Amino acid sequence: MIALQPAIIKALQGIVGNEHVLATPEALLCYSFDATFHTGRPEVVVLPASTAEVAAVIKLAGREGIPITARGAGTGLSGGSLPKGGIALVLTRMNKIKEIDRANMLAVVEPGVVTAHLQQAVEAHGLFYPPDPASNKVSTVGGNVAENAGGPRCFKYGVTRDYVLGLEVVLADGRVLRTGGRTVKNVAGYDLTRLIIGSEGTLGIVTEATLRLIPKPEAAATVMAVFPRLSDAGEVTAAVVARGVTPAAIEIMDQFTLKVVEAYLHIGLPVEAEAVVLFEVDGFREAVDRQTTIVAEICRQTGAGEVRTARDGAEAEELWRARRSISTAITQIKPTKIGEDICVPVAQVSEMIRKLHYLRQKFGLNMAIYGHAGDGNLHPNVVTDLRDRAEMAKVEEALHQIAEIALGLGGTLTGEHGIGTLKAPYLEMEVGPVGIDVMRAIKRALDPAGILNPGKMRLDE
Ligand code: LAC
Ligand code: ZN
Repeated sequence: MIALQPAIIKALQGIVGNEHVLATPEALLCYSFDATFHTGRPEVVVLPASTAEVAAVIKLAGREGIPITARGAGTGLSGGSLPKGGIALVLTRMNKIKEIDRANMLAVVEPGVVTAHLQQAVEAHGLFYPPDPASNKVSTVGGNVAENAGGPRCFKYGVTRDYVLGLEVVLADGRVLRTGGRTVKNVAGYDLTRLIIGSEGTLGIVTEATLRLIPKPEAAATVMAVFPRLSDAGEVTAAVVARGVTPAAIEIMDQFTLKVVEAYLHIGLPVEAEAVVLFEVDGFREAVDRQTTIVAEICRQTGAGEVRTARDGAEAEELWRARRSISTAITQIKPTKIGEDICVPVAQVSEMIRKLHYLRQKFGLNMAIYGHAGDGNLHPNVVTDLRDRAEMAKVEEALHQIAEIALGLGGTLTGEHGIGTLKAPYLEMEVGPVGIDVMRAIKRALDPAGILNPGKMRLDE
């Protein structure tokens, strides 16, 4: 890697101010990680404060042929925001909620807004922003848009994509594109909003998002069902769906996961069970009561032992905190965590869980099985040590098989984390050579010099 010339550092300082250009070895190291085990080092870190500054930085990068990788809080789970030399463009200073429009049920935000901050702000107006990645207390809207993040509530409410009405995007040549608008319906031309969502910063850099909001549900309840047998827990989603109930979330945690989280949080999780399934039901109060009763009944019929409704908001909050802590808790066991994100059609969930259980035994892996059972988005997470070559070979084989099984069941490699660097070797397996060709053509058209987030999805190879 060739260090950037002092003249370029100076030009960047001229755009964003000296204190917003970082180039010490310590700073570069800090921006070389995300929440995967992959790494990627920038040559300089730049923190712009406005669309105009982003555009000026991109123009400079284009002129000089410097790679530029946009980044928010660095919580990504696919390597999407890892720099490959060049500029790490960190958007955390652009963290304003510009507008909450109650009448039109929308919010206009900068990309560096933390997702949970947005949620709290709109809830104060009786509104609701449903997408809730497990990282929502840290991750930012820009990153959520770039990776098309999901979360537990997506079973009922859909993913980030379903709440983006419009975007402002700085293109590779520095021009500013506005997509979509402020209406729910909009079919004017190609759907450029959706093209940018999930494009992982490879086509442009999002500098503003107009987000759709919905009314905040009047009430919510959390139900925890304890299953002596994992296979029974796998059946429960299909049974609930068949009864016509749509909980906001249906989350499964197997015994391995429960033990790891319990060791981390000490909150009395039922670690003797093979699985716990957590439900959130929401809506009008009467509907919540009725759904709670039906869900509890179905759980008992499907083989649950204890079925418990959280006594109050604090208990519900604690159960969801346990759920959200899984990724962090797992890293306490061994240094390398490889988090899968496959998603299968909902009727295939129990088959996928059965196969994961089999693979875990066959390869003798430390594997947590958990995830969003409601929408089929499962997170088998293998914990290992990168330095243990023999185990890594087994892990790689198991991951390959997991990908094949998920695709074989009609699923996808990634429900919400994105392709980034982690899943790049498998992308063609899912989208085929024609799919890759079309993606490459789009990439070439919008970023002919290949400066935007190189190395992601392998579209620039
Ligand atoms: C979760 C992350 C891994 O659901 O997506 O916890
Ligand atoms: Zn998830």
